[in-house]
Amino acid sequence: MKTIFRKIFKTKSKSQRRKERLIARQKNLTLGKNTLLLDGVTFRNDYNNKITIGNDCMINCNFIFESDKGEIEIGDRCFINGGTNIISRSKVKFGNDITVAWGCTFYDHNSHSIDWRERKNDMFQQFKDKEDTGDFIKNKNWDVVKTRSITIGDKVWIGFDCVILNGVNIGEGAILGAKSVVREDVEPWTMVAGNPARVIKRIEHD
Ligand SMILES: CC(C)(COP(=O)(O)OP(=O)(O)OC[C@H]1O[C@@H](n2cnc3c(N)ncnc32)[C@H](O)[C@@H]1OP(=O)(O)O)[C@@H](O)C(=O)NCCC(=O)NCCS
Repeated sequence: MKTIFRKIFKTKSKSQRRKERLIARQKNLTLGKNTLLLDGVTFRNDYNNKITIGNDCMINCNFIFESDKGEIEIGDRCFINGGTNIISRSKVKFGNDITVAWGCTFYDHNSHSIDWRERKNDMFQQFKDKEDTGDFIKNKNWDVVKTRSITIGDKVWIGFDCVILNGVNIGEGAILGAKSVVREDVEPWTMVAGNPARVIKRIEHD
């Protein structure tokens, strides 16, 4: 009934209006032809980082940036499902024809130093920034944080709850079994699973 009413009177649904508001705030978002942002999409992006999404995609994930650096690029015909977090300080790049299931995490940096003497400063800085600016990572020291881009090749399928850590390249046509933790490159046309992810099969292809 609501849908018919909307069609006749050309009004917009609450979710359409929410989506338009979200998109309007993203000054550096490029959306391709026929690409749909589903209701689960969120942006944590106070810095207007670059997000490019190609044609014929269906996207339902969270785009997260914590500084003015970081970029996310998605090719054509990709499906990225809800609850998936893409967190970038460097670059996370998806090719074409990729399927990503629910609840995955792509994290192109470590967030903190592995050296306690550097890490201990984070809490002081967070409290100070929260009080001074409201943004607890406004003046975070990123120089001590390991940061490396992630690349996902064409035709990759990533099962639910996978974790892809910084510096990983996933080769064309690879499949990641559910709940894999991937910290090394994955060869094209292989199936990997587990923590740490290991090859469990070779995949036939043309
Ligand atoms: C990756 C997957 C598709 C592989 O399916 P499959 O080809 O039928 O794999 P098999 O059952 O033959 O498993 C092969 C081996 O890998 C192991 N394995 C498969 N998936 C695994 C996983 N997620 N974690 C750990 N080990 C796994 C199996 O135990 C088996 O080990 P064995 O040879 O020692 O017995 C499937 O296991 C999976 O993860 N499915 C979830 C898909 C998903 O997330 N869908 C959401 C919608 S997009």
